[in-house]
Amino acid sequence: MDLGIAGRSAIVCGGSAGLGRATAMALAADGVKVVIAARSEKRLVEAANDIVAETGGDVRWVVADVTTDEGRDAVLAACPAPDILINNAGGPPPGDFRSWSREDWIKALDANMLSAIFFIKATLDGMIERKFGRVVNITSHMVKQPVAILGLSNGARAGLTGFVGGLSRDVARHNVTINCVLPGQFDTDRLKSNHLRFAAANKVDLETMQANARRGIPAGRFGQPDEFGAMCAFLCSAKAGYITGQNIILDGGQFPGLL
Ligand SMILES: NC(=O)c1ccc[n+]([C@@H]2O[C@H](COP(=O)([O-])OP(=O)(O)OC[C@H]3O[C@@H](n4cnc5c(N)ncnc54)[C@H](OP(=O)(O)O)[C@@H]3O)[C@@H](O)[C@H]2O)c1
Repeated sequence: MDLGIAGRSAIVCGGSAGLGRATAMALAADGVKVVIAARSEKRLVEAANDIVAETGGDVRWVVADVTTDEGRDAVLAACPAPDILINNAGGPPPGDFRSWSREDWIKALDANMLSAIFFIKATLDGMIERKFGRVVNITSHMVKQPVAILGLSNGARAGLTGFVGGLSRDVARHNVTINCVLPGQFDTDRLKSNHLRFAAANKVDLETMQANARRGIPAGRFGQPDEFGAMCAFLCSAKAGYITGQNIILDGGQFPGLL
């Protein structure tokens, strides 16, 4: 399917690994000019080289911590008028709410709520003027199915979800959409590090922990990042202008509710 976005420009935050990298790959494969941002230069260079090798696309990278003003400014300097914005950053660590300080909460809000809101603030009016814009926020299935140990993530991401729920309706008439995509369990570094922590907490090995996790997923497996990237690319396509304000869960059927 031709997604109708060849030649458009995109910022992909957290684009050097996992779900962000897969989204950058899918966009580049559809002819989108991509700027990927992350903190480690080494992984950025590797990801950019891989994406170019696989897609022949136009890929640039920016070393940036997207939770900081300086980091966001550096990304926006490289791509001041994106047609597509993928908001993404690392998730907060699991834990017990009794041990979380104000500083822990602020870090979670910066990474999983405010960085996305400030990128939207910097780019949305340009999208409205140009009558095309696609914003995708990578959040988590925890938005629909929260568990206590991921409370920092649940709280921050629910804040972003509420904010864009209203804003998306306000800008839809300009062909600017804002959606959230909620990963369940995708085979990335982040998932492995969470499973290592849970394995240690439950005094089992990683393989046992992962086998238990797979058993809880109706599809019987973890998702592959390219499956996630394909959904994000479709939501960014010219064909997806009538999808907005949605929270689309990709979890192999794990969320048990109808809606
Ligand atoms: N994978 C899953 O199953 C799953 C499930 C639920 C939710 N999620 C959420 O989805 C998001 C992506 O997950 P993932 O599995 O793709 O994670 P990942 O494999 O750890 O990749 C995270 C990417 O974000 C970058 N990043 C992290 N913090 C950043 C920051 N402050 N500024 C700029 N870049 C930053 C990382 O590069 P640097 O470290 O070099 O900056 C990397 O490129 C996370 O918020 C995660 O919590 C994932």
